[in-house]
Parts: sequence; C-alpha cells; structure tokens
Amino acid sequence: MEAKEKTRRNTSETEGRIWFNFSRRNFLTVAGWGLFFATIGAYLSQILGYKGFFYPKVLFEPSPKFAVGEPKSFPENSVTTLKSRKIFVVRDGNSFKAISVVCQHLGCAVEFSKEKNIFECPCHGSKYYRNGVNFAGPAPRPLSHFEVVLSDSGKLVVDTSKIVPIETELIV
Ligand code: FES
Repeated sequence: MEAKEKTRRNTSETEGRIWFNFSRRNFLTVAGWGLFFATIGAYLSQILGYKGFFYPKVLFEPSPKFAVGEPKSFPENSVTTLKSRKIFVVRDGNSFKAISVVCQHLGCAVEFSKEKNIFECPCHGSKYYRNGVNFAGPAPRPLSHFEVVLSDSGKLVVDTSKIVPIETELIV
C-alpha cells in the first residue's frame, strides 16, 4: 500500500517536473517553429487563397448596356436623373435621349435645374442647355450622349459604351 502511494507521488512529481523542466531553450524552439509555420501559412494563404496571387486582377463592372424602363414611365417633357447609372433620360414628346451626368470639364456630376431648364455643374459653374450643349463655364464640349434603343420587350435600353452625336434621338 505504501509502495503504491509512493509510486503515485513519484508520478505526480514527475508530471510536475516535465512541465517545470520545459526549459527556456525548448520554449524558444517551439515558439520559433510555431512562428515559422505561421509565417509560411500566411504567405501560402496570400498566394493560393481567395483573391490571392493566382486570382485574376480584374475589376468586375456592371454592364454598360441596361434597361431603364418603358417609355411611358418617363413623363412627357421631363428630365429624369438615374444617379446609379450616371445618366439623364430626357424625354421631349416622343423623343428620348440618354445624356451623361459627367461634366466635360473635370468630371463632376452635373445637376438638372428644373427652374432654369438647364444642366449646371456645381464644381466650376459650367452650364449646358437641356440638349447637353455647353454655353457657359470652362466645359470645352457638350455632355456625352449615349445610344438608346427600344428592346423587344418594349423597354428603353441605354448603352453607355456607345457615344452618339448629340442630335441623335430615339423616337418611340
Ligand atoms: S467639373 Fe464641371 S465645371 Fe469643372
């Protein structure tokens, strides 16, 4: 019985010593390897992981061609601002135009003034007639006009990758 007790005590002493004998050198070795593998893991995740080195470096942009709605959804003789698409849809009678909101001076977003019936740039004061032609301020040319077509489903489709002459309009 006494022998058993002695053995148990020795074992617990030994266990204690194992932890206690974990020398600084051992600790530094383990810590060093841990740091090494952590660094390798971080590099590998950068290279092979999601959006890593092998992931194509491209920007995914929305399509430049999009539907803006049926012609009847735009009131007659109106200018509708589609901020998310950066265009104005200008309707005069049955004529439709898509005009860019981007100022031709330094690229600020122009705004439509209902009272004055013109486009104005808040940055340096360029002004454009309702048809997009510049008449005041530093803007060197008219606002860009984009192609507008009527789709088979009867919706107006604007293509901002196709700039058209300013007199171009879609008659519906
Ligand atoms: S950016 Fe519009 S006037 Fe300068």
